[in-house]
Amino acid sequence: MMRASYRQGCALSAFIVVIVCGLLGLSAAAGFADGSYSSPEATHLVLHEGEEARPDDDVGAGLQDRVLECDVVVVGGGSAGTSAALAAARSGAKTVLIQSRGVLGGNASSESKLHMVGADKEGGRGHLMKTEAREGGIVEEYTVRNSVENPQRSVELHDLTLYKLFREEPNVQLILNAPMVSAVKEWEEGSGGWVVKQVTAENQEAQVRYIVKGKVFIDATGDGRLGAEAHVPYIIGRESRSHFGESLAEARSDNETEGSSFAFTSRDYGRPMTFTAPEWAMKFTSSDFKYRPIHSDILDYGYWWIEVAWPYSTIRDNEAIRDRLLEAVLGIWDYIKNSGNFPEAENLALDWIEWWPCKREGRRFRGLYIMTQNDILPDPKQKPPPAPMLFDDRVSYGGWNLDLHNPKGIFDTSRPAFASHRLPYLYSTPLRSLIAQNATNLMLAGRLASFSHVVFGSQRVMKTAAAMGQASGTGAAYFALHGIPPADVGGHPDGVWSIQQQLLRDDQYIIGMYNQDPRDHALRAAAVKASSFVANETFDGRPQLVVSGQTRAVHGYGGAAPSQRKEGVQRWVSEALPAWIALEWTTPITDIAQVELVFDTGMHRTLMLSMMLRDQHKMVWGRPQPETVRDYSIEARLAAGADDQWRQVITVQGNFQRKRRHNVARQMAQIDPQKVGVESLRLVVSATNGIPHAHVFEIRVYGKDGLTPFPAKPQPQQQRPRRETKLWMR
Ligand SMILES: Cc1cc2nc3c(=O)[nH]c(=O)nc-3n(C[C@H](O)[C@H](O)[C@H](O)COP(=O)(O)OP(=O)(O)OC[C@H]3O[C@@H](n4cnc5c(N)ncnc54)[C@H](O)[C@@H]3O)c2cc1C
Ligand SMILES: *[C@@H]1O[C@H](CO)[C@@H](O)[C@H](O)[C@H]1NC(C)=O
Ligand SMILES: *[C@@H]1O[C@H](CO)[C@@H](O)[C@H](O)[C@H]1NC(C)=O
Ligand SMILES: *[C@@H]1O[C@H](CO)[C@@H](O)[C@H](O)[C@H]1NC(C)=O
Ligand SMILES: *[C@@H]1O[C@H](CO)[C@@H](O)[C@H](O)[C@H]1NC(C)=O
Repeated sequence: MMRASYRQGCALSAFIVVIVCGLLGLSAAAGFADGSYSSPEATHLVLHEGEEARPDDDVGAGLQDRVLECDVVVVGGGSAGTSAALAAARSGAKTVLIQSRGVLGGNASSESKLHMVGADKEGGRGHLMKTEAREGGIVEEYTVRNSVENPQRSVELHDLTLYKLFREEPNVQLILNAPMVSAVKEWEEGSGGWVVKQVTAENQEAQVRYIVKGKVFIDATGDGRLGAEAHVPYIIGRESRSHFGESLAEARSDNETEGSSFAFTSRDYGRPMTFTAPEWAMKFTSSDFKYRPIHSDILDYGYWWIEVAWPYSTIRDNEAIRDRLLEAVLGIWDYIKNSGNFPEAENLALDWIEWWPCKREGRRFRGLYIMTQNDILPDPKQKPPPAPMLFDDRVSYGGWNLDLHNPKGIFDTSRPAFASHRLPYLYSTPLRSLIAQNATNLMLAGRLASFSHVVFGSQRVMKTAAAMGQASGTGAAYFALHGIPPADVGGHPDGVWSIQQQLLRDDQYIIGMYNQDPRDHALRAAAVKASSFVANETFDGRPQLVVSGQTRAVHGYGGAAPSQRKEGVQRWVSEALPAWIALEWTTPITDIAQVELVFDTGMHRTLMLSMMLRDQHKMVWGRPQPETVRDYSIEARLAAGADDQWRQVITVQGNFQRKRRHNVARQMAQIDPQKVGVESLRLVVSATNGIPHAHVFEIRVYGKDGLTPFPAKPQPQQQRPRRETKLWMR
């Protein structure tokens, strides 16, 4: 029997009972109507740690209060909030994620079925071994996992993959089906800001009210429910050209937002299917589709341009917008089925329509820094294009086009649905754009963060939001654990460095930042050797690259700007398989506790769960990525004096992940009980998931001091001189 989940991430105070769903039903069936759980037949109904059996509770009127206390509270479980909560929890902060809906993933969930695009522009920015722009970190972890778990492309199984991440993470408590409804904040004299003390979320179905207290809060609600409560200044609408001096902005400011949309999916039923639209559906003619093409090869999943905002408010008028969108979707399907222009749609019928508007734009908050077009692409015509801003506090990146939609959407079919401006390079996102103004402990993640309308046009897409969420969550954990209000970030440059280094370790790409974790023994290896490698005049796959500190290629077209990157493929490439790569130290390492690896998951290709059949050939879905090392072992050789044997530390089979961490403290204690020390550690690759070469981006080796998050920035006097690694050798 499945044990219901109730992770005790936070201290559960003032309260009382947690009843496991399903328990009631089962106990009733077993005849425990009196509420007694003492019967031996009930022993398989296992309560989780911290749970108590149902007391003689009165289920009277009103809500029952449950008070939780933790370090980081994330509100909103879309792509941004999901990553934020996992990142905070994994960085050591007790975390609660409050999500209004029953599933995670926001607009990528089964409720909306949008596919998650990002900086790589669905592969449009991808070039084999040259430009690998796909987001790493948490979003990559669950995307490759879902690809393996979900060959059937079921979007509900995408929800399940996200849910599993939370089941597997002991430091986070997930609260589903409970919209945040209010916040308690205090004005802090002297700091010029509000301090958020707690938020309240209500699950009206369970009739429970959660009161969640925390040190740092993250608003990832899309529309900004929490930030608005905390009086963070925001804008709804478009800034004028002169406001930030943005050439792509409108001449005058207005209150228009990008539209909300409905998607639909259809299926081939193998026989003619008819469709009769309700009489209230919109009526379309061919001229309506001049700028909004209906592609005959995308009749199974459409269409982003079914959008409505003007003349409504995307926040307050969500219900009216839903009605308009239904009228539009059904009208378009009517046109597809009954205009006679799409004979290929004869056997198609709708099998899903959205019931909840996907929203592009609502509030955008003002943070400690407001990113504008000038930080990314001041003059789209300038040749060659200047490099984007390289903020000192950069923590994330983007690369999707600046898509500026027509707010009149489907009501203005005589004009294009959007203007899309290509960005020549990947750009950076500063931590300050993820920290609210005028609230000392509130951070931001997702489409509501601190950007101009023009920059929002790129930042809002979901993989970009996920990477941003990982940055917010990691930052929030740092601030909460160190007792620093996020608003004071400017006074803590070393803290920013620690956050950046932690993000790099967690496989976030940060443009022009490299691993410098002083605890990583691999960076101090005297030599890196391999059984073989591929290198010639045009291609460099030397073993030393596993300690270069950059774990992807960004030197190709559409990658990072030339001044902001390391050139080259940045990975060891073996000539053949099996193959090994070894780190050697002159001073033996006696405290190895963790080995971390970064493999290749083909980040030049697009990879996302998509309901659209047409683009499936662009990706490798339904199985591991062929570049990824599948079977490997880690072996150690003890310092001279002991015998010269390679001793096996661990073996792994069936890997498909990019980032792997192996805690090997126990194995090392067995191999080296006398603490002679390790003079060489090697990774032996016996198979990949497809290609005949081993590809390894990074190897990190940590002692016990490296098991805690957030490395401290070495102060100049204690900085150890970095050994020059010997030139490559076979
Ligand atoms: C039609 C359309 C097509 C799009 N196409 C794409 C696309 O193909 N690919 C892509 O990447 N992006 C696309 N976008 C953009 C993308 O959907 C959004 O910008 C993105 O979802 C924003 O992510 P987020 O995490 O900030 O917000 P969301 O994904 O909206 O997540 C916010 C979450 O917060 C929860 N929430 C809200 N209020 C509360 C509350 N009070 N308490 C608790 N929880 C709350 C919501 O349930 C939701 O799950 C599209 C947008 C639209 C409208
Ligand atoms: C989709 O996104 C919008 C805006 O971010 C949000 O308001 C809405 O709740 C999301 N939908 C779901 C099902 O999460
Ligand atoms: C809000 O924050 C901004 C930027 O930090 C500052 O200029 C402004 O004075 C603050 N407002 C209040 C009311 O403190
Ligand atoms: C935008 O909204 C504000 C607040 O409702 C209003 O004062 C202003 O006149 C509006 N501007 C435009 C251009 O409609
Ligand atoms: C260099 O090696 C790469 C990778 O194996 C290969 O594609 C390329 O053809 C080689 N170039 C030369 C000049 O040998």
